Amino acid sequence: MNIQFVKQLVSTYKPGFSLEQAFYTSDEVFEAEWQFIFKKHWLYAGNTAQIPKAGAYFLYHLQKNSIIIIRGSDEKVYAHYNTCRHRGSVICLQDKGNAPKLVCPYHQWVYDKDGTLLNARMMPDDFCKEAYNLHAVHVKVVEGLIFISLADEAPSFEAIEKSLAPYLKPFEINKATVACIKNYTLAANWKLVAENFRECYHCGGAHPEYCGAVIGANLREDTGELTLTKQKDWNANGLETKLIEVTGGTTTYAIRYPLRPGIESYSIDGKKISIPMGLHKNHDAGVVGLVNYPNFWMDGVSDYIWTMRVTPVNASTTDVEFCWLVDANAVEGKDYTLERLTAFWEITGDQDGKLCEDNFKGIQSDAYQPGPYAAVEDQVINFVDWCVNTLKEGLNENK
Ligand code: FES
Ligand SMILES: [Fe+2]
Repeated sequence: MNIQFVKQLVSTYKPGFSLEQAFYTSDEVFEAEWQFIFKKHWLYAGNTAQIPKAGAYFLYHLQKNSIIIIRGSDEKVYAHYNTCRHRGSVICLQDKGNAPKLVCPYHQWVYDKDGTLLNARMMPDDFCKEAYNLHAVHVKVVEGLIFISLADEAPSFEAIEKSLAPYLKPFEINKATVACIKNYTLAANWKLVAENFRECYHCGGAHPEYCGAVIGANLREDTGELTLTKQKDWNANGLETKLIEVTGGTTTYAIRYPLRPGIESYSIDGKKISIPMGLHKNHDAGVVGLVNYPNFWMDGVSDYIWTMRVTPVNASTTDVEFCWLVDANAVEGKDYTLERLTAFWEITGDQDGKLCEDNFKGIQSDAYQPGPYAAVEDQVINFVDWCVNTLKEGLNENK
């Protein structure tokens, strides 16, 4: 990595303005971000409803690493590098599945779900199996959301857990049903995807469906009074409303805001999508919006959760995974239909995906230069500041 180039670029950052072109296009910056942001912080991987039983697993591909996220016999979630301790073959070949034991397809070394090497055939009697367990990846679970860290020493998870847990608890994600997972690849730098989801300056023009459901999303309606009234109701029902903002050293944003009066869910027709999720008693919980830098977004309404996992592939390509969760007892065809459940975020997500790709195209122009943010883009400023400062810290540690 050309550290000097990235350092120089970082030093040109002008707060309040969008980033220089090279922040979005250069391989050097991407490499630095990978090292100092993605390999340092907690990354959202998925949720425990995706692995309901012992042996259920899914893979998370992060650059050259594939990570196995698996449920152990003790119900705990384990994460391992998907590379055999014999000669390095990948062990799990499918992106998801069920494996009572992890058996390497090359020479059949057998590992337990917790990563312990159980059997290495034809190895000598004095072979020390204990020295060849799978390499573990740090993993934490907060109310059903699974986060991993590729850092040698994982950062503290305390602030994330404390911020997210009260908002997540009523959804009972661990018992929930995964209704649908969809993957998309966007031709855009990952930060543009993140930035797009941190402001609603574009919502009035781009998202008629979203603005139809969320009062104030068009930035033309005053929601102050309604929010206060609703907050009282929510608090009386034990629902968290405390705004959490990303400040120095933290990575989490959390909020609850109202839907438009009369609107029951995130749906195109404004009607409910499914039965209330988990502990929710009705369709009146508003919207829970959760973010964890750098790669997690979630919006939850009373009857379903939609999560977004952002995974950078290279400077100009970003993988995005959407996951829809409904209540444990919700039956497809009876309580909900996949079409109605996914329509709202498929439509809104397509609109956003196009905005991100167009943003990325325009940034590559010879004439592009950083432009000023509007006051309503304060969360974008926060995100961009965080990225630049995190890079700076990393670069300084690696003189
Ligand atoms: S590489 Fe896995 S058993 Fe040989
Ligand atoms: Fe949007």
